[in-house]
Amino acid sequence: MFEKLENLKLKFEEELNDVNSNDELEKVRVEFLGKKGLVTEELKNLRNLSGEEKKNAGMKINQLKSYIEKAIVDYQKVLEEKEYQREIEKSERYDYSIPSIKEIGTLHPITIVQKQIEDKFKTMGFIIEDGLEIQTEYNNFEAVNIPENHPARDMQDTYYLENGQILKTHTSAAQNTIMKKYGAPKPGESLKVLFPGRCFRNENLDASHENTFFQLEGMMIGEDISISNLIYFMKVLLTEVFERDVKVRLRPGFFPFVEPGFELDINCEICGGSGCPTCKHSGWLELLPCGMIHPNVLSMGGIDPDKYTGFAFGLGLTRLAMMKYNIKDIRLFNSGNIKQLKQFIK
Ligand code: PHE
Repeated sequence: MFEKLENLKLKFEEELNDVNSNDELEKVRVEFLGKKGLVTEELKNLRNLSGEEKKNAGMKINQLKSYIEKAIVDYQKVLEEKEYQREIEKSERYDYSIPSIKEIGTLHPITIVQKQIEDKFKTMGFIIEDGLEIQTEYNNFEAVNIPENHPARDMQDTYYLENGQILKTHTSAAQNTIMKKYGAPKPGESLKVLFPGRCFRNENLDASHENTFFQLEGMMIGEDISISNLIYFMKVLLTEVFERDVKVRLRPGFFPFVEPGFELDINCEICGGSGCPTCKHSGWLELLPCGMIHPNVLSMGGIDPDKYTGFAFGLGLTRLAMMKYNIKDIRLFNSGNIKQLKQFIK
């Protein structure tokens, strides 16, 4: 009797070893513990025994039954583990013969236009500088002739940091630092600097307003720099970017840091001048505010306004890129929409 039970145990262990799925495991369970299972039959046979013998045999059979029950539960976990391993192996199987997907980065449309202008201006002797994005109120406002409480500050509301500094609202914030860094030019020479940069303003977002945008500022200071120089460089700039003649108009514009000041508008390339949301239905886009540097700004920068004059322009780089590439909504630039941004590779 006991030998028989021992053999049943061995048989069970052997069969369990070959089990590879839950279905197979269930078959083994039924074979041993089912209604007509091998162990169940042994229990039924107990009725033919009596006394001490019955008691001992019953105990042994029940021990075997518990052993098998536990082994089955444990083996379920082994099966789960095996299944998991199979999944991992599957996912780690690479086919090295499949060509890889090449996601090559491209320059951002704004960077393309910026580089194009920089390259052109470098050939004309301009130095490239980049101003800080976090600025003092002094550099951003006072140093460009916008004292505290001046209404011009209203139009350039921005983000104030806890330490009192601000995110610069225009590239003009670097004028003072640059003037101090290079000083007045030598006799017969001029100081020519181009300084592009990211600017920030508290704006209500729409198709043509963003809280983060790019400008590209230029400045030329010398002993007899005039409006003719200004107009010449503006023309060079626009011809370079659009690679053709662009319709422009010059009208007086007010900026506290230039005198006289101008607004150079370009014909809206999106609607061709008939009016659309991008140009606020005017057919023109303000693109190139400019003017002759205000004497106060020169003297705050340590340059004698009685001896030197200069011009400055603050190109809306983001707007220019919109015109050049016919992008209707300014929000695309910061959208991270790679599919759209990628199209502008030059
Ligand atoms: N800083 C001015 C602005 O952002 C633009 C500007 C620059 C105007 C230089 C004139 C000269 O509005």
